[in-house]
This record gives sequence, C-alpha cells and structure tokens, in this order.
Amino acid sequence: MASPFEILGVDPDADEADIVDAYRERVKETHPDQGGSAEAFQAVQDAYERIENGYEPGDEPRYPPTGPAPGPTEADPEPEPDPPEPEGIEVEYLNYEVVADEGWNLDDDDLFEKAADGGFDPADYGRFHVAENESLLEAAENEGYAWPFACRGGACTNCAVAVVEGEMPSPASHILPQELHDRGIRLSCIVAPESDAKIVYNVKHLPEVHDLLLPASRFEQASSSTD
Ligand code: FES
Repeated sequence: MASPFEILGVDPDADEADIVDAYRERVKETHPDQGGSAEAFQAVQDAYERIENGYEPGDEPRYPPTGPAPGPTEADPEPEPDPPEPEGIEVEYLNYEVVADEGWNLDDDDLFEKAADGGFDPADYGRFHVAENESLLEAAENEGYAWPFACRGGACTNCAVAVVEGEMPSPASHILPQELHDRGIRLSCIVAPESDAKIVYNVKHLPEVHDLLLPASRFEQASSSTD
C-alpha cells in the first residue's frame, strides 16, 4: 500500500508548505470533474489528513484509509461448525403396517423408493444409526421408537423384522426356522447390522411369523400384543 507521501508525490522530509502545495496539485489532478476518480480523490484527501495527524513512515493503518475501520462489533461471525457425522451403521426402516395398508409387498423392488416418497410419519418410515454394541431393537428404542418386543432374548418372535437389503447375521441361538432365516427374517432384539441396511419392522403379522409367536403377556417387559 502506498504511503501518504507517495500518494501526494512528496518526499517524507518535505516541509509543511511543500506538502500543502503537493496536496492542492493532487486534488486538482484527481478531482472527478477534472478526469480523475472519486476513489483517487478520496485517497489524496485521506493521505493529507494522515500526514496532518502525524503520520510517520512505517506507521501503516491496519485498514485501508478509504474504507471504514472494522470495529469489534463488525467482525465476521464464526461460521457454524458442520454437525458431526452420526456414528454407526445406517438403517432405513419401514413399518410393515404401511406395507400392508398400501397393498405393497416385501419383495417389491421399489419398496423403499415408494416409502421415501410417501410422506409417512417418522415412526413408520425413516433412518437411524446403530452404534457399536447396540442391537437393532435397542437402536430403534434409543431413537425414541416403540418397536414390538416381548422376551428380548430371541425366543418369542414379537420383534421380527424383514431384512430387505444389507448384512444382518443372527447368533446361533434363536427360534426362527432356517427357511424364515433364509428369507431375511431376523429378531431385532438379538441382531445388529454389519452393513447399511433396509429393514421392514413389525413383521410379526406375517402368517409364517405369527405362527411362531409366544404371547407377549408371558414376558414382564413386553410392549407388544400378539393380537
Ligand atoms: S423380543 Fe422375543 S425374540 Fe425378540
């Protein structure tokens, strides 16, 4: 940035008279009516004012003399930090009651596309993340959802879900026959996804699952009915 003396075109050792002469000359040269510009005219005026106020070479302003000095209240606000990425494996879920009400089928290729476009309540369709050491049922409950369950131990099938996409192995001990397991039926109280997954919960009403239900009333913590 040019010093005030450079803007006026005088030596830093110039006396007061030479500075005034230079100032008048530069004002005429830079005046907008004389072919100059408003910016250059303002710069000359600022330079003269700074010299009059005791400017010393090297005493540069922290802000352009033609612009406003930034005050503490004009500081740019700190940008909002990006929200942290949720940790865990993402599960996209859909309530089987929606599937039945809409006349859809678990085998529909576009089942979750239709669900995403359906405008359903978050309790019926949405996504959440399953953290390490959480079962699928625990993850849903930690999100505030009341998925069906009864025994919480793999024995009653009230918590059954259908895995439409993704990896969700079962532990060795559970009540499901191999045929249902091969079709993607899992017990949400004892499984956790190993990859992002799409699941339909509340599938206890599927006839082949319903046949395996143990009455929820047999379990103290039951939040499900076997209707
Ligand atoms: S709650 Fe009984 S099998 Fe999951």
